[in-house]
Amino acid sequence: MYQPDMLTQQTILITGGGTGLGRAMAERLAGLGARVGILGRRTEPLTATVEAIQQAGGRAAWASADVRDPEQIAAAIDQLEEELEPFTSLVNNAAGNFLAPSEDLSPKAFDAVVQIVLYGTYNATMDLGRRWIERGDGGQILSIVTTYAWMGSSFVLPSACAKAGVLAMTRSLAVEWATYGIRSNAIAPGPFPTEGAFSRLATPEMLEVGKKAVPVGRFGDPGELADLAAYLLSPMATYVNGECVVIDGGEWLKNGQEFSKYTDMPRAQAKALMQSMKPKKG
Ligand code: HXC
Ligand code: NAP
Repeated sequence: MYQPDMLTQQTILITGGGTGLGRAMAERLAGLGARVGILGRRTEPLTATVEAIQQAGGRAAWASADVRDPEQIAAAIDQLEEELEPFTSLVNNAAGNFLAPSEDLSPKAFDAVVQIVLYGTYNATMDLGRRWIERGDGGQILSIVTTYAWMGSSFVLPSACAKAGVLAMTRSLAVEWATYGIRSNAIAPGPFPTEGAFSRLATPEMLEVGKKAVPVGRFGDPGELADLAAYLLSPMATYVNGECVVIDGGEWLKNGQEFSKYTDMPRAQAKALMQSMKPKKG
């Protein structure tokens, strides 16, 4: 429903843009006219995504880089800006995560996730942010967090700590860098079926339970998230700054609410139960 030329002014870097939600955003943003640069560690998903975008008539390029290493990020940005145009926007999407009891985590396990999610976001943000400040043309940062960035979550402690940090970075820079014309926002997704996330975070049985925890009764479609990202990076959203938009079918609200478990009962049964508890008149 967007105008097909909505993002023609944009050249967008997406970290982790070769798979899952990153790929969905890359394809959607390119389809709306943006030039899209993607980076990640494995070349195969990156080349496949760029080929798909080019076959659909879009402009895209890839570079292999580990977001934990600022020098690799700088080299990748140099290469991609040479092939495309100077970046106007950054989507911090690359992440690492796995389920583990916190007491069993080795220092390297905690470090691996925090380095990718928090330091990786910091590294990409600082590299492009400094270029934008020097160029004087502004820029846009969009970071993908999760709903547990503010709630915390059991069994994903490194990710919860790192995503909370990314949310704090988003809000801090929204104020500090507004003077340079740089906006900073975030998206907090609930569960979206991607190979990267679901293979590490859920068994098939857990997925059925997980679906019931979402009030709208289903998982997200990556295209829905990509459309939200497109809006936030578009000229329609220039007054949105420092915001974190939740896209989770109402999941986090349901699970935080004391009596939400009654929504899992057939409604007629819940009504009968509540009626039976109502004091009789007279
Ligand atoms: C315990 C683990 C572990 C696990 C790795 N480690 N997996 N510990 N349980 N399942 C430990 C290792 O033993 C090692 O510690 C340390 O972590 C580093 O492991 P490496 O394999 O060397 O790390 P690396 O190659 O850098 O890989 C990083 C990774 C990996 C995070 C571990 O999973 C990865 O590359 N992930 C990228 C993609 C991803 O995770 N996508 C999902 C995003 S989903 P020792 O001490 O043994 O050396 C997401 C959604 C959230 O974020 C919200 C959902 C609703
Ligand atoms: P995914 O497909 O595993 O995406 C993660 C991407 O990050 C991969 O392309 C991976 O590529 C890249 N990456 C990981 N470590 C990297 C590193 N060190 N350097 C460069 N790139 C790296 O999972 P996804 O579900 O699409 O997740 C995308 C984003 O959405 C993440 O921020 C995640 O936390 C967030 N999210 C997802 C869900 C969900 O339900 N899917 C829910 C909430 C939030 P390489 O491995 O090739 O490097």
